[in-house]
Amino acid sequence: MNALNNPEIPMTWLMLRTTGIVAIALLTISTVVGIVSPVLRSPRRRLVAISIHGTAAATGTLLLLGHIVLAVLDSYVHISPLATVVPGVSAWEPLWIGVGTVSFDLLILLLVTTLNRFRAPRTWKAVHLVSYALLPLAWVHALAIGSDAADLPMRVTALLGLAAVAGAFVFRQSRRPTSPPAENPAGTPAPLSAPTPVDVNVKEYA
Ligand code: HEM
Repeated sequence: MNALNNPEIPMTWLMLRTTGIVAIALLTISTVVGIVSPVLRSPRRRLVAISIHGTAAATGTLLLLGHIVLAVLDSYVHISPLATVVPGVSAWEPLWIGVGTVSFDLLILLLVTTLNRFRAPRTWKAVHLVSYALLPLAWVHALAIGSDAADLPMRVTALLGLAAVAGAFVFRQSRRPTSPPAENPAGTPAPLSAPTPVDVNVKEYA
């Protein structure tokens, strides 16, 4: 009998774990692609990257909402709806659930500022930096209380995920121009290349 047909294993618990793991994987993909997208040279690749970034973030967020609802519904862990947004008030594992709650709160902040990014682009950009803390916090939460935390594949996945984010960051820094563009004879900085409609569309992500 496998875990899915075993009546001793509650379905909510299996789904809670699955949604958590897939959500963290999608949010990692979104973060990695979001970091590298502004420094991709081809406008077409940038556009594809931005689509992947947004789609993975949206799907990951939906799964995360499922993860959190299941955590509240699960009969083994005792987590009130309030504890899903206020860190430290969970009856079960208040510290490690609290770390997950902070990560979730950061995600809410990211979503709200993204929806308002055209009205407040600076706030959007500043808050987007917060996303660097979101995944490490989520992994601390997962490795502290997750049923699979003791498994080697889970730990290796955590390391690979965080290494991918660090690698993307290094790649982005290595592609940034180190000196300002040379000036043309008229005294205005020479553009690196003519702006394309895609450049205009993706400008706010740079
Ligand atoms: C309000 C916020 C959150 C609550 C209430 C919550 C609840 C839980 C609970 C109860 C578990 C233990 C499941 C088990 O017994 O294995 C867990 C594990 C986990 N959570 Fe969360 N979580 C929250 C936020 C997050 C966030 C933001 C992420 C990722 C982005 C995440 C990803 C995971 C993962 C990957 C596991 C490990 C699953 C396993 O190893 O079986 N959680 N969470």
